Amino acid sequence: MIYLDNAATTFPKPEEVYEAVLSCMKNYGANPGRAGHKLALSAGRIIYEARENLSKLFNIDNPMNIIFTYNATDSLNLAIKGIVQKGDHIITTSMEHNSVIRPIKELEKIGVENTIVQCNELGELNPDDIKKAIKKNTKLIVTTHSSNVCGTIVDIEAIGKIAREMNITYLVDAAQTAGVYDIDVKKMNIDMLALPGHKGLLGPQGTGVLYLKEGVKLNQLREGGTGSKSEELTQPHIIPDRYESGTPNTPGIAGLNEGVKFILKEGIDKIRRYEEELTQYFIDGLKEIPMVKIYGPKNSKKQSSVVSINVGEEDSSEISYVLDSVFNIATRSGLHCAPLAHKTLGTFEQGTVRFSIGYFNNKEEINKALQALKSIVAEIK
Ligand code: ALA
Repeated sequence: MIYLDNAATTFPKPEEVYEAVLSCMKNYGANPGRAGHKLALSAGRIIYEARENLSKLFNIDNPMNIIFTYNATDSLNLAIKGIVQKGDHIITTSMEHNSVIRPIKELEKIGVENTIVQCNELGELNPDDIKKAIKKNTKLIVTTHSSNVCGTIVDIEAIGKIAREMNITYLVDAAQTAGVYDIDVKKMNIDMLALPGHKGLLGPQGTGVLYLKEGVKLNQLREGGTGSKSEELTQPHIIPDRYESGTPNTPGIAGLNEGVKFILKEGIDKIRRYEEELTQYFIDGLKEIPMVKIYGPKNSKKQSSVVSINVGEEDSSEISYVLDSVFNIATRSGLHCAPLAHKTLGTFEQGTVRFSIGYFNNKEEINKALQALKSIVAEIK
C-alpha cells in the first residue's frame, strides 16, 4: 500500500513510538498523578517529559502551559468555547476545518457573533482582511496554519502581530503543520496553539495538545478528578489540571513523546525540506498529466504537503476508489470536513482527491501515484 493520506493521520510512525506505547502498557501502565507509588510516578514522569519535549519544539517557556487533550478538535473546542462569552465576536477564515467552524457556529446560539473572512480561490488569506474585520467586541481570532484541503499556508506571524497590536487573543490551528514547520509561539505572538498528536508530531491517535500562553484563562468544558486538590468539590484552577480532568491517555502520550523526540533528533528543517521536495516533485508531475486540475498555490513554498486535484469532471470519490482498489494507493476524497474551504476553491460539488505526503514517503511512491493517474486518465479518454 502506498499511503498518501498523512493529512488525516501519519502512517507509519517511527518504531520508537510503537515501542513506547507498548512499554507503557506493559511496564508502568499505572494512573499518573493519582498515587505516590513507583509505577504512578513513572507514568507521571513520562507525561512531564512529553510536556518538556513539546515545549522545546514550540519555544514554550513553561511545560505546564501544555494541556493534553484527545485530538486537535478537542483542543479547538476548549480554546474557542472556553474564551468567549455572550456579546463577544470571533474572526475566522473561509479555509477552516469544521473543527473550528462548528464550535463557532454553535456559539451563535448563546449570542457570540462571528465574521468569516473570505480567502481567494487559491485559499490565500490577506492579513489586512482580518484587520478590517476587527470590531470593538472582537475577543478571538482563529486561523489555520495550513489548509487541510489544498495546503495553502497562512502567514500566522502577520496575523499574530495584528492580534497583539489590537489586544485580541490569537488561536492557531496547526493540525497540518505541527512537527513539520517551525512554529515559535513567542516570535509569532500565538496565544493558543491547537495540535493533533497523531499527524506531523508522529504520535498515536487519541492524543492532542493545547498550548495556552501564560495568563490566558479559559472556562473549562469538563469537571472531574484531576489528582490534585481532592478535598475541594469544585474544579481546581491550577494549570494544566483545570483542563485535564479524568485519566489521561498515558500510553498515547508516551508514544507522542517519542514522536516529538524523533522530530527534535531529525531536525524540523530536514523534515520540512524533504516534504517540500516530494510535494513539488508531485505537483510538477501532475502538471504534465492532461485532464488533471490542481487546486491551491501549486508551489511547495506556499503550501504544506497536501495536494488536491480532480480528473476532468469525474467524481472525486470514484477516482479515490480506483486509486485504492486498483493501484493500492490511499488518498482521501470528498469535502475533507471543510465545506467552506471547498466553496472557496470552487470544489464544493465535486470535492477533490487529496494526496498528502509524509516524511516516510519516497520518490518511487510519488512516481507510482503519477503513473496511476496517467493510467486513469488514459482509461477515461
Ligand atoms: N482533519 C483530518 C483530515 O483533514 C482528519 O483528513
